[in-house]
Amino acid sequence: MRKNIVAGNWKMNKNLQEGIALAKELNEVLSADKPNCDVVICTPFIHLASVTPIVNSEIIGVGAENCADKVSGAYTGEVSAEMVASTGAQYVILGHSERRAYYHETVEILEEKVKLALANNLKPIFCIGEVLEEREANKQNEVVAAQLASVFSLSAEDFSKVILAYEPVWAIGTGKTATPEQAQEIHAYIRSLVADKYGKEVAENTSILYGGSCKPSNAKELFANPDVDGGLIGGASLKAADFKGIIDAFK
Ligand code: PGA
Repeated sequence: MRKNIVAGNWKMNKNLQEGIALAKELNEVLSADKPNCDVVICTPFIHLASVTPIVNSEIIGVGAENCADKVSGAYTGEVSAEMVASTGAQYVILGHSERRAYYHETVEILEEKVKLALANNLKPIFCIGEVLEEREANKQNEVVAAQLASVFSLSAEDFSKVILAYEPVWAIGTGKTATPEQAQEIHAYIRSLVADKYGKEVAENTSILYGGSCKPSNAKELFANPDVDGGLIGGASLKAADFKGIIDAFK
């Protein structure tokens, strides 16, 4: 059966000391009251090597928010999937809408990143989702289908290591959440696309997370949907109490 997962995306927040303090606090809180789902925190690159040794890996997985689309070499400022893995991180967010919009990451670039992540035993948390104009034009299904091309070139074995995250761009950081019905409808559609490509068993085993203004007060009704297998959490992952409140939606 597929896993329920709550993953935090710290984005470009917290300096090193603040990040270490948050990871420690979360580790204490979740060690005292064990989660009923997998928990992952995705941090800026510079935090990874400090955060991985201070969290109990049986309770909290650690991931990066991006990795390079090249193996190694003269790519000033880039961080490779191998470097991420060498910190002890096990996950990497790829295809976040902020990366697509501000850093022009295309379907092809993301396909390279996904392959390199998998080659280095990192589990990609692969994000898809439409912008407001696309939702208003009722084009969300074709948008997510096109974005999935980056992972649909994988073998079934490799695809089964991918976690999908549906994040409507109009809901990210806006306080505007998709309704549980909107989330369920498109998650079921995404799962049907996976089934068409890889078969029903792979589709049933794929975790599909919801992201976009998810908070303790709405997590339970979002995660109650049969095709919503947890969340990718931005703002609310920056406070241990809020993040724990979302994790507790699975209790
Ligand atoms: P948000 O961000 O929870 O702050 O809306 C979610 C995300 O971008 O992953």
